[in-house]
Amino acid sequence: MGPITLCVLLPVTVLAVVVAIAAEGNAVDDEYTWPQWKVPLVKTRRTVPLSSPNFSAHPQPELSGTCGIECQRRLPASSLGDLEQFLSYETVYENGTRTYTSVSVQGLNEVTAWPGNISSSSRHKREVYGTDTRFSISDKQFSTKYPFSTSVKISTGCSGVLVSPKHVLTAAHCVHDGKDYLDGVQKLRVGILKEKSRRGKGGKGRGGRGKGKRRKGDKDEEEVEEKEDNGGKGDRKGKGKGRKSRSRRSAESGKPSFRWTGVKKTQVPKGWFKGVSDGLAADYDYAVLELKKAPKVKHMDLGVIPSVKKLPAGRIHFSGFDDDRPGNLVYRFCSVSEESNDLLYQYCDAKPGSSGSGIYIRLKEPGKKKWTRKIIGVFSGHQWVDVNGNGMQQDYNVAVRITPLKYAQICYWVHGDSSECQVA
Ligand SMILES: *[C@@H]1O[C@H](CO)[C@@H](O)[C@H](O)[C@H]1NC(C)=O
Ligand SMILES: *[C@@H]1O[C@H](CO)[C@@H](O)[C@H](O)[C@H]1NC(C)=O
Ligand SMILES: *[C@@H]1O[C@H](CO)[C@@H](O)[C@H](O)[C@H]1NC(C)=O
Repeated sequence: MGPITLCVLLPVTVLAVVVAIAAEGNAVDDEYTWPQWKVPLVKTRRTVPLSSPNFSAHPQPELSGTCGIECQRRLPASSLGDLEQFLSYETVYENGTRTYTSVSVQGLNEVTAWPGNISSSSRHKREVYGTDTRFSISDKQFSTKYPFSTSVKISTGCSGVLVSPKHVLTAAHCVHDGKDYLDGVQKLRVGILKEKSRRGKGGKGRGGRGKGKRRKGDKDEEEVEEKEDNGGKGDRKGKGKGRKSRSRRSAESGKPSFRWTGVKKTQVPKGWFKGVSDGLAADYDYAVLELKKAPKVKHMDLGVIPSVKKLPAGRIHFSGFDDDRPGNLVYRFCSVSEESNDLLYQYCDAKPGSSGSGIYIRLKEPGKKKWTRKIIGVFSGHQWVDVNGNGMQQDYNVAVRITPLKYAQICYWVHGDSSECQVA
């Protein structure tokens, strides 16, 4: 690969970014178009108030015991009633109150895809997993431009993606451990990469943590210079100094900084909760956050794709905030190694922190020349997966796929009206 060789010859960060942009741009499945789906309707049956959550859970570094694709094959197919239960959801509001909404699903049997000329004959060889690489998009010139700008940081330590002007899709485990909401969810905030940072004095001479925030007239929106693990990974003591100097350094090196925005409400499907969808919880590791204020950043639409492996390039892409590269947006792409209706397994390089990133691919819109990127999944993270039911575990990076039904649900959460969600 030409660009990779160049990268070795000239180890310059900016060049690495350019290589990343080129890699992102090259992976176009040129002759293939987005399939059009008629999706089911998800409707509210009723909403009831629940007691406020305790917000007592702590973030988990790694998920385990996922019933894998083979394991899931042996489970009975979910009935309509089951699916309605899994898609029913909880909403937590900024004031700490909580509701439960049960839903009905209509038209599940009518779900159809007009295959967007997804051919099953693989005309090109798929990529070799060994070439997978992560790229730090550390230059604001790129990180604040689409598609990278759609990636956001969640204050509990995860990543997410803007799927509407003011909705963020992330992983459910970033806000809920299956039993309770994480302690950081009561004051959940979302960091959007900021194009301009105030020059000079910005990061300097500020006192302790409390003063680290600078209020702009608007109280819903706080500007904070980049701080690693803001809020999320527990309040480790004695971090104050480190943070301050880090923040100063990042301001000086031109690394991304965030504009933090509060979250108005958080929605999590019941399928994620312990004891609801035993064996299938991993399929429901997604959540949607509604921001108090819409950032002026282009979002990425959701899409549904029947098979990623059947695409000739067969690659997925995602960008997030991996823990091991604080302050950097990290982009990567890779091939999918296994897929089921609900999950994608791959060996994309990823570290904790990138959980919740939006997984996208790019295809042409039917009848149009230009290709479009769409979010087809949510990155869950590294997991040990039960591969064949005899207790044998294999490790993968797992992503939740956006199925027509999940598309219908997320679209309903975003629009509040299922009639706007009939075709994916
Ligand atoms: C909150 O904690 C109390 C006491 O530990 C427990 O009884 C209750 O069930 C918890 N509530 C929720 C919603 O988790
Ligand atoms: C909390 O917020 C929700 C949604 O804005 C509202 O319906 C509810 O009445 C509020 N509850 C309290 C106790 O303020
Ligand atoms: C698939 O390809 C055929 C012929 O090339 C074309 O007529 C049809 O419209 C395409 N379908 C879609 C959904 O793009």
